[in-house]
Amino acid sequence: MIAVTPGRLGSRIRAVSKRALAAPPPDCGGNQGCGKPEENGHAHASAGGVPPPVAHPACGVRDHCGVPTQNPPRHPWWQRAVFYEVYVRSFQDSNGDGIGDLAGVIDRLDYLEWLGVTAIWLTPFYPSPMVDGGYDIADYRGVDPRFGTLETFDRLVAEAHRRSLRVIVDLVPNHTSDQHPWFVDARSSRTARHRDWYLWHDPGPEGAPPNNWISEIGGSSWQLDERTGQYYLHSFAVEQPDLNWRNREVREAMYDVMRFWLDRAVDGFRIDVLWYLVKDELWRHNPVNPYYVPGEDPAHAALVDTYGSDQPEVHEVVAEMREVLDEYEDRVMVGEIYLPVTRLIEYYGWGGREGVHLPFNFHLITQPWDARGLAVTIDEYEGGLPANAWPTWVIGNHDKPRVVSRVGTGQARVATLLLCTLRGTPTVYYGDELGMPNGHVPHALVTDPLALNAADGSQEGRDEYRSPMAWTRAPQGGFTSGSPWIPLPEAPLESVEGQRDDPDSFLGLYRKLLELRRAHEALQVGRYLPIPASGDLLAFRRLAGEEEIVVAANLGHEPVELTVPQEPPLRILLQLVEGSVSDLAHGRLRLAGDDAVIALVQPPGT
Ligand code: NOJ
Ligand code: CA
Repeated sequence: MIAVTPGRLGSRIRAVSKRALAAPPPDCGGNQGCGKPEENGHAHASAGGVPPPVAHPACGVRDHCGVPTQNPPRHPWWQRAVFYEVYVRSFQDSNGDGIGDLAGVIDRLDYLEWLGVTAIWLTPFYPSPMVDGGYDIADYRGVDPRFGTLETFDRLVAEAHRRSLRVIVDLVPNHTSDQHPWFVDARSSRTARHRDWYLWHDPGPEGAPPNNWISEIGGSSWQLDERTGQYYLHSFAVEQPDLNWRNREVREAMYDVMRFWLDRAVDGFRIDVLWYLVKDELWRHNPVNPYYVPGEDPAHAALVDTYGSDQPEVHEVVAEMREVLDEYEDRVMVGEIYLPVTRLIEYYGWGGREGVHLPFNFHLITQPWDARGLAVTIDEYEGGLPANAWPTWVIGNHDKPRVVSRVGTGQARVATLLLCTLRGTPTVYYGDELGMPNGHVPHALVTDPLALNAADGSQEGRDEYRSPMAWTRAPQGGFTSGSPWIPLPEAPLESVEGQRDDPDSFLGLYRKLLELRRAHEALQVGRYLPIPASGDLLAFRRLAGEEEIVVAANLGHEPVELTVPQEPPLRILLQLVEGSVSDLAHGRLRLAGDDAVIALVQPPGT
């Protein structure tokens, strides 16, 4: 399964193990494998169920002691993890230039630990002309001076690991910047060394682009290179030429990039637009989308992307990436994949080979906020997951409108509760824990190519979802001592300082939910069972061993009731809206509008 020579593999794992002893990676979760026998009170996997969420008695660290495992873990760390997306340029500025940076992230690690997340995903910090917020990379092995240095990066990883926080970084394999030396060489002549590393095609009739594909940023996916007389493909901005993943050298180069960061002790990758890597070899036209609404939908949606992404051959690439990752111990691959459930789940593995551990499931973002539709999707997802595949959920990221702006503050609290109670690994988008809405970005400050490209102003652009973090009540929210690259969201958003001591605040809700996940095995790793419901109600059980928890969420604004068929009474662990009196002895839950409940089924005699 591992495509390297034994000598090479051996030295890599040895190197990693040494690092592990120097700076223990986080989280054994009691089952990650801490090397202690299970009889000593620290269960790895108890007989009839998953292990209890206890601190390791030997090392005292919440989730991990760094001592190698004897038994394979029942739940690897990333299944118990709560990921947090740090959009680096908006998180914390450390030097007053108005741009968040890696040193700023280090300064906020204590906060992240306090919040209760256990892993961070850093968005790109690599050298970049910043045409697409750093997703246009000019050097895969460096740190852009705006964000720090490699030394700062190493310090960040060490400081995070010291706090039992894992660190994953963005891998952007679909495209480089047009300033990357590979592309500079590729476009220099048709016979250049790196020419075939990118996707070139002769012009169509009368010099037209080779096919009708539309880039995600708008406009044709093809750009004519005047000097060499061919078009190159760019699925995103013109300045982001797509790499040719059918070229073996490209693959090996990118796998070495992975090893570069894995050697620096990162815990894994979030892989950008993973489903895009391989394109139709015949360059067929995409069919027209009959449901496209001009002016409302992004230009790209005018066609059904049948040939520009999600081609069967992509799964071979994913499997190879996984094999590179598996040269190292205990790492994770998270894939960015916007696809319907039935296609998404193929990225867990294909043709008997392993795929990504966590293909992002964006359905709580992309689907209408409607209980019945979501119930169907959740069940379709739960039912369709391959054996041993682990679910994952997300309600916000740097490409989509903030959850508060999508569904309103009341429903954003409901969405947060679902994020933290549905089965699977959640990812929290920075700022969402404050209930941050979309910001307002004056036209002169807009940097997102999506907005800049839509000359008709039809796309608001994604900068509005990337506002600087509000840490304190100080001017500029303590984000910067200078002038932020885009403004903070307008009042009345309360900062971390303003919310941290208020248990009813958005931040208080996040803390409480993450605390409940830690305290209740059923919430963290328990099974999922839907409870039949109608109207605006979404309800399910989570079960682990003897523990059973009922979750009911009202996705509407009117009161609803749910009777949970069961014998023992319920005990409410958390309810969003105070004042609804439920009949807990008879399993009757009353929910106000915009309300949700987490209730423990009381075992007899408690
Ligand atoms: C997905 C990233 O999240 C987005 O911000 C970026 O524009 C595209 N991929 C292209 O890299
Ligand atoms: Ca800075």
